[in-house]
Amino acid sequence: MDKGKPLEGKTALVFGVASETSIAWAIAKELSARGAKIVLGYQFRYHSRIKDLAPTLQNLLSFERCDILKDDETEKFFSGLKTNIDVVVHAIAFAPATAYQGRVVDTTQDDFTTALQVSAHSLAKLMKQARPHMKRGGSAIALSYLGGVRVCTNYKIMGVAKAALEAYVRELANDLGPEGIRVNSISAGPIKTLAASGIPEFELMLDYNKAVAPLRDNVTQTDVANCAAFLASDDSSMITGQNIYVDAGYSIIGVPNLAA
Ligand SMILES: NC(=O)c1ccc[n+]([C@@H]2O[C@H](COP(=O)([O-])OP(=O)(O)OC[C@H]3O[C@@H](n4cnc5c(N)ncnc54)[C@H](O)[C@@H]3O)[C@@H](O)[C@H]2O)c1
Repeated sequence: MDKGKPLEGKTALVFGVASETSIAWAIAKELSARGAKIVLGYQFRYHSRIKDLAPTLQNLLSFERCDILKDDETEKFFSGLKTNIDVVVHAIAFAPATAYQGRVVDTTQDDFTTALQVSAHSLAKLMKQARPHMKRGGSAIALSYLGGVRVCTNYKIMGVAKAALEAYVRELANDLGPEGIRVNSISAGPIKTLAASGIPEFELMLDYNKAVAPLRDNVTQTDVANCAAFLASDDSSMITGQNIYVDAGYSIIGVPNLAA
């Protein structure tokens, strides 16, 4: 289906491409297909993949390393930007493997700090740097998960991080709204990616979601990317501070059909 070029004239920064399975990669491709120019910010540990993948993007302007925990890299990334920015995609999350082992009550301060810095505070950090480049206003889109509002066994500290991320979305929407910058998140259903492979029993989660979600299916990276393209476009110009579920309806279920 031809979706037209509603993002023509816009430039998007997309953070979080690590591989072809990354949700950020699907978003970059969709924004590009709809006319946006793309700048990728990536973690250098994935350089060998990104150097081959990035140039396959239609409207790529550049791809630059940008580890959110390294201030010098982040500042260099933004000072090197030559264009106005309209869209920022935050598809970044990380918690140390130790945070997924053992009980939540035993979470160490170091694991908490790392998970929250990378997965939640990074949104504010990116927006602080992006803001001066968003002279025409714009749209920021973060990626969340149901674990931010419900207990999703095995998600542990990442549930706490996503709760903080969703709160940051509301706070930043209010803070940046007067400058015409909108901030929203997409709460995606489970998708098999590199980050997801760190979550124990992920395959079982996929099966359960598919069985229980009203639409009886799992979502794909493309489903999420389509929603991101809408949030990036002027069609969503009065939507800010929201968390939109792209999860085949899974999040509305309290008690699933136990007989099925
Ligand atoms: N896969 C799922 O089931 C699912 C569901 C809901 C939400 N999400 C969210 O989607 C987003 C993208 O994850 P994904 O599933 O595509 O996995 P992914 O592994 O492809 O992407 C995670 C990205 O985070 C980046 N990252 C981690 N630490 C970083 C740092 N210090 N600096 C810069 N980048 C850093 C990695 O480089 C990687 O590109 C994450 O926020 C994740 O929590 C994923």
